[in-house]
Amino acid sequence: MGGRLGGKIAIVTGAGSGIGHASARLFATEGAKVICADFSGDEERTADEIGEAGVAVHVDVAVAADVERMVAIAEDRFGKLDILFNNAGIGGPKLLITEQTEEDYNRVLDVNLKGVFLGMKYGIQAMLRNGGGSVVNTASAARLVGWRKNAVYGASKGGVIQMTKAVALDFADKSVRVNALCPGMTWTGLVPGSREHSEPPADAPVPPQPMRRWGLSSELAAAAIFLASDESSFVTGVALPVDGGYVC
Ligand code: NAI
Repeated sequence: MGGRLGGKIAIVTGAGSGIGHASARLFATEGAKVICADFSGDEERTADEIGEAGVAVHVDVAVAADVERMVAIAEDRFGKLDILFNNAGIGGPKLLITEQTEEDYNRVLDVNLKGVFLGMKYGIQAMLRNGGGSVVNTASAARLVGWRKNAVYGASKGGVIQMTKAVALDFADKSVRVNALCPGMTWTGLVPGSREHSEPPADAPVPPQPMRRWGLSSELAAAAIFLASDESSFVTGVALPVDGGYVC
């Protein structure tokens, strides 16, 4: 029962790669049992790395029946759900809005925003059955500023912030905390070239962040565990930038 998440049951979506992978591993290291949810197949690898404390679940977060099943697995296996990290997300094509297809719009909104909606819809029901919990939703530093050719993605992440704040208010007096994590440009599977290089190579473009470097998945996981754990017990409804100073 030791560690910052000792005795806690957590779901991490997008656990196959990047921020979700680093967070699932950190949560387990700190004592949580972790449902590693993804639809890439890499959720199996993450759960294997974690060992006994990890359970892989194949989930498309945009599909209600998948998300309901994911939450049911947490309750069936471990009797409760304490932490839900709604982290799975996709970038979508970087295009002018005049060039975006309706299909791409629908898929980005379905994964990034509806996925968070479904996670909270079913996850918070489970938390209420157990007397409370902590939800962390991954938004983006793109929530506060416009990024060129990023209208659809930015809208999805702006929606995540608004949903986070509204749900935080709705459940603030019911021991369910809801916060958002807002990564700046982070070296993950979303970045071209990251599959070949686990860390940014010397010739990688320097992102426009005051620290003049990429964020690392481990740095986002460190912020996610703060929001997920009881260390942030008086924090709800915040959108925490972890972005090397980007939105200063
Ligand atoms: P990643 O591509 O390394 O990891 C995302 C994971 O989500 C992948 O394993 C993918 O298979 C999974 N996923 C995607 N759609 C899914 C679906 N429908 N159902 C289940 N799993 C699905 O990327 P990263 O960067 O770790 O992404 C995590 C979150 O961070 C995303 O929400 C992303 O939008 C957000 N973010 C990332 C930034 C970056 O610079 N890397 C910047 C701002 C936000």
